[in-house]
Amino acid sequence: MDEVKLNIFGFGNVGRATARILLEKESVFKERYGLVFKVLSISDTSGTVWLPEGIDLHEALLVKENFGKLSAWINDYEVYNLSPTEAVREIEGDLIVDVTNDKNAWEWHMEALKIGKGVVTSNKPPLAFHYSELTEKAEGKGLPYLFEATVMAGTPVIGLLRETLLGDSIESIEAVLNGTTTYILTQMEEGVSFEEALKDAQKLGIAERDPSGDILGIDAGYKATILHCLAFKPITFDEITVRGIADVSMEEVRKSRREGKTIRLVASIEEGAVSVGPREVPRGSPLAVSSTQNAAVMKTDLLGELVIKGAGAGLRETASGVVSDIVKAALKIRGA
Ligand SMILES: NC(=O)c1ccc[n+]([C@@H]2O[C@H](COP(=O)([O-])OP(=O)(O)OC[C@H]3O[C@@H](n4cnc5c(N)ncnc54)[C@H](OP(=O)(O)O)[C@@H]3O)[C@@H](O)[C@H]2O)c1
Repeated sequence: MDEVKLNIFGFGNVGRATARILLEKESVFKERYGLVFKVLSISDTSGTVWLPEGIDLHEALLVKENFGKLSAWINDYEVYNLSPTEAVREIEGDLIVDVTNDKNAWEWHMEALKIGKGVVTSNKPPLAFHYSELTEKAEGKGLPYLFEATVMAGTPVIGLLRETLLGDSIESIEAVLNGTTTYILTQMEEGVSFEEALKDAQKLGIAERDPSGDILGIDAGYKATILHCLAFKPITFDEITVRGIADVSMEEVRKSRREGKTIRLVASIEEGAVSVGPREVPRGSPLAVSSTQNAAVMKTDLLGELVIKGAGAGLRETASGVVSDIVKAALKIRGA
């Protein structure tokens, strides 16, 4: 049985969902892959809980859910005040799992790779701004740097581009990559105003408390940048064009509906050209998704048109991508 030591950064929605799945699937990982995961540290913004013998994830979940912060854990565990870079350097581990929303996380991803640790992340900005540096460093070191959950949650669009379509050349990708904007546009079709629809989305937990990243198209832009890096060549978010849905009027939404179409925030990705913006799509199009579903229509030279559609958000759905990457990374580290 191979033991793989994890350092988890971020114990919010996705971090906790990942911990729950690590618990729930413990026997599956043992039986199917011969892997045992031991979590040596968990960090949130209040501190880092670190135990060389391995942290009890049930207890960690109870502390975070009851007290809101890991630093409230005072019984058997020491809570350290370390920056992420210090935690990466000082705490033993094979793999760091970054499920934070820290925009500067690329710095400590780089540190992990430099000292021989693999990285799994659901955090988009490191990839959207530093794809080349990070993936080149990982390759040079022979380490896994995996990020399935950054685009379309656990729906395996990254794996498809990175590991499956190895002989095809991608010609274009069109995709709906943000569920919050789909929800708001769908509500507007029902006559609900933009402002009301946004409030509803926040109440339902679909939109973030600060929804600007979704509304302005930044979240979809990060994801489109990552897809371009995989399908064509590395670029950064600064090189793409983004327009959000804030100026889509009720009248435009109604007109599309009358004409049998629907407006979605669509990312169009071709070699050297990425744009995100509201676009009319026919009702029967694979891009006419609803709720938090995402879809991508890819055109390749060999396969022609390929559609991948599935959950684009949600906790277990995102954790599915994170956990798949943890298993993949562990198998790579163990040389399986
Ligand atoms: N939710 C989804 O459906 C989804 C889907 C795909 C990708 N993602 C991405 O996955 C990541 C996590 O999402 P989430 O929904 O779980 O967010 P969240 O609930 O806001 O959790 C973020 C966590 O990161 C911690 N954190 C932030 N900066 C940190 C730092 N420097 N060091 C240590 N911990 C830090 C926060 O600590 P505190 O608890 O102390 O605040 C919190 O525990 C984000 O990057 C998000 O974009 C989310």
